[in-house]
Amino acid sequence: MRTVFWKDQQVQMIDQRLLPGEFVIASFATVDEVARSIREMYVRGAPAIGATGAYGMVVAAQASRAADTAGLLADLAAAKEVLDAARPTAVNLSWATARLLETAEEQVANGATLEAVRAALLAEAETLADEDVAINRRMGFHGAEVIPDGANLLHHCNTGALAVVDFGTALGVVFACQEQGKNIHVWVDETRPRLQGARLTAWELMRAEIPMHLIADNAAGHLMRTGKVDVVIFGADRVAANGDVANKIGTYKLGVVARENGIPVYAVVPTSTIDLNLPDGDQIPIEERDASEVTYVGETLIAPVDVPVYNPAFDVTPHRYITGIVTEEGICYPPFEKSLRQAKEAAEARIRATRSQRSGAQQGQDHHSTSATSATESPPATNLTP
Ligand code: MRU
Repeated sequence: MRTVFWKDQQVQMIDQRLLPGEFVIASFATVDEVARSIREMYVRGAPAIGATGAYGMVVAAQASRAADTAGLLADLAAAKEVLDAARPTAVNLSWATARLLETAEEQVANGATLEAVRAALLAEAETLADEDVAINRRMGFHGAEVIPDGANLLHHCNTGALAVVDFGTALGVVFACQEQGKNIHVWVDETRPRLQGARLTAWELMRAEIPMHLIADNAAGHLMRTGKVDVVIFGADRVAANGDVANKIGTYKLGVVARENGIPVYAVVPTSTIDLNLPDGDQIPIEERDASEVTYVGETLIAPVDVPVYNPAFDVTPHRYITGIVTEEGICYPPFEKSLRQAKEAAEARIRATRSQRSGAQQGQDHHSTSATSATESPPATNLTP
């Protein structure tokens, strides 16, 4: 099943705060509630947050009391601000809400009625969610090309089906290797403080029957120095134009130790995670979260009451520590300025082609002549080398 989906006029999602103990579906029917689901991490993982933001814009459109389309656009712009503020680091969120707002603007420019705009927004959010699944599978198979049979992978945080709409980014590569019959083994970082590795990645890999061991975050350096890791692999919440990668706190030191030990490092990201507006990782906003994430494990207080805490949720790994960035358009290698731009442009062309196909179909035009690849079809693999 999907991590996040639209049902009964609501955004519905797996409540990831409760896994692996309980499997509960939570529903949200207002923009503020959808923003809360993101802020409080019912849903987490950059692409899953993006899809939730898209459905949040649908909620905004349905709830709008605007008398005309200009009023609806104003309500959607306000909703975008609320949703984007829920979590600052993952750029997929503002990317998705911008895409929905653009859809509405295009519809209004073409003279659509209020109801037609609402319908177009729901269709766009569903398309975005469908594309996410297809994109993940493409990324997974591109990434599998660089994973040798018999490899030991080191993985941080959770990048599986739970972090996206379905399949996964870095764990998608693991699932693709399994589909190809490769024997692989995954060292699963527990990922303090919220334990996405222990709670979510271990749960997903065990269900998929992929060989793994859960390790304390502090064990990673020892495993790399003693030859037990062949590839370090993770996702990202934002990639700057120069290839600097923001991901879950603790990723940076994996990159440094991997370099020290000659181990390749791959980030696996949909192009929606690439932010060409930011020249380097120093510009990426780093979310700071509540002290209780550090002072509690579950219900248990593990530090003195009122201890001062600093809890940055992400760090930035400079691009010099990254071997390659796997996207749905192929694997980007240095110089990343060029290869990331190529990947982003290819993906944007794909989205435009899908949109014009759809609007052509809506207008009853003959669209048999288009040769564009749909966003859900697989293109041939490309290596985005310089
Ligand atoms: O705070 P989270 O759990 O949302 O952080 C998630 C990560 O850091 C993932 O590695 C990232 O979103 C990439 S997953 C597809």
